[in-house]
Amino acid sequence: MRHFADSIAQALSALTGVAPSEIKIEEPRDRAMGDLAFPCFALAKALKKAPPAIASELAGQLGAKLTGITAVASGPYINFQVERALLARTVVGTIETRRAEYGRSDYGRGKTIVIDFSSPNIAKPMHVGHLRSTILGQALVNLHEALGYRTVGINHIGDWGSMFGGLVVAMKRWGGARVGADGKVVLDRAKELGIDIEGDPVRGLLEVYQRSKKVLDPEKPEHDPAFAAEARAAWIELESGKDGEIRALWRWVTEVSMRGFSRTYKRLGIRHDLVRGESFYEPFLAPTFARCEQAGITEISDGATIVALKAIDKGLAETPCLLKQRDGTTLYATRDLAALYHRWDEFHFERCLYVVGAEQKLHFRQLKAVLKRLGADFEPRVEHVDFGLLLGTGRTKLASRKGDVLVLDELLDEVVEETSRVVREKNPELAGQQQIAEQIGIGALVFNDLKRERIKDVVFEKAEVLSFEGETGPYVQYTHARMASILRKAAASGQGGATPDWAALADAAPVLIRLSQFPDVVRSAADHAEPSELAQALLALSRDLSTWYVGSRVLDQEPSVTAARLALVRSCKTVLANGLRLLGVAAPEEM
Ligand code: ARG
Repeated sequence: MRHFADSIAQALSALTGVAPSEIKIEEPRDRAMGDLAFPCFALAKALKKAPPAIASELAGQLGAKLTGITAVASGPYINFQVERALLARTVVGTIETRRAEYGRSDYGRGKTIVIDFSSPNIAKPMHVGHLRSTILGQALVNLHEALGYRTVGINHIGDWGSMFGGLVVAMKRWGGARVGADGKVVLDRAKELGIDIEGDPVRGLLEVYQRSKKVLDPEKPEHDPAFAAEARAAWIELESGKDGEIRALWRWVTEVSMRGFSRTYKRLGIRHDLVRGESFYEPFLAPTFARCEQAGITEISDGATIVALKAIDKGLAETPCLLKQRDGTTLYATRDLAALYHRWDEFHFERCLYVVGAEQKLHFRQLKAVLKRLGADFEPRVEHVDFGLLLGTGRTKLASRKGDVLVLDELLDEVVEETSRVVREKNPELAGQQQIAEQIGIGALVFNDLKRERIKDVVFEKAEVLSFEGETGPYVQYTHARMASILRKAAASGQGGATPDWAALADAAPVLIRLSQFPDVVRSAADHAEPSELAQALLALSRDLSTWYVGSRVLDQEPSVTAARLALVRSCKTVLANGLRLLGVAAPEEM
């Protein structure tokens, strides 16, 4: 459509002398009046005439200027209809030329987008909130990358904080953890500690962490003051930068956790450009702190260092940003502030997106307010891309089979297992079932996460998410596979070589229009950091395509008709595959 809108704008410009960039051609939601429309209000001033008069005058003159597009005045509007054969030839022709590149552009060339996503915490398994961040973040990376931006995906791992003091002490006390002669960490009593290092270290670490939390908590019967004092000292030693045993044990915990996360990332097709945990920014904490002091925005409150934010944002009157605790140790916010300046210095980003759940709204609001107090001119480029919760049936908290914290990998296993069963049932002959079940199962989960506005909560209803019908990933994948199957049959029977009769696609206008919108959808989804726009467009395309397909047989028609319809099928397959790829969902050829 953009192509036609551009020629209309050119023609209007030639008739009125107004620059084409000033002429906004709209794509109406309701197609009854036409494919495109031009509201003449904008020209009223320049032409010194009433919009309806302009519309009827220009509509008459446009006839001679436009080929294959009719212009009709309707009140203050001019409505345009593109001749169906021309529409088909243009849209299909463009997609057939660009193939996998269709939807890609250089819209963002020369600009960098930093995307902070996934960012799980060490010694805790990735939970469902991280799953959403991971899926949304990767889709945003893909979208921006397709638009020619330089994308920098950063995994801001939670590998720093006072809890690590407790964890390290727990490892020493309960597991006999020490640094061996070769510099490697050994656990003399790994069994007692309950960590299965080879098998499932992440789960074991979680248990140690949870146990240590109880021991540290003065309110709990398990509380052990000596342990707590040692943990405190260990955290202070970590923050001091000393490279001794404590640090070696901390490093070990980090590495073991990261190995666990990598397995999940691999299954989900996640790629980070940089894995920089909070600890990475340690060297930049002091300079960040100094920056705040020099700017004169810090205050001491109860022994802690804070930045008051009331003057910037009244809603933050009661919640200043805490930069340093009484004991001098830093906080999550301090590290985020340091990270942000580091990123700005390194990348001079166009936007820095934080794909983090809505429960951290306050944190990011504070962070931006601190930037304002610092006079950082890049503050508007920093955006919290927040999202709702992922819930189980009946909006309950998603839990594992055992009823405790849900470990992501277990959820993935469960979904893939179920998909395997469905696939076996539907298509027992299918080759490579295991791989396809993984693609469909994970695709279903990912799509379910992306299909609604991100701020909305997502309910995970297994049967519904995996259904081949309705608003699901498998439905889009299945539509794609059906197109692939038609093309295979055509190839096997040698059809499709004739010169296409584009007029035979007159009944496919809704599908053609969807196809033509794809590049704009990609752009808009990226601009709004809203992958759901793309997911919804793919669903709509699949629906319109199914409707068309029911009424119009593709194979075994007049050769020129079959050729045109096959070309459309190929275009649809291309767009579905390109779109799914951008969302991080596989597009199997068969299912
Ligand atoms: N690790 C944090 C959490 O799990 C998320 C970090 C998000 N990124 C950031 N730069 N704060 O809650």
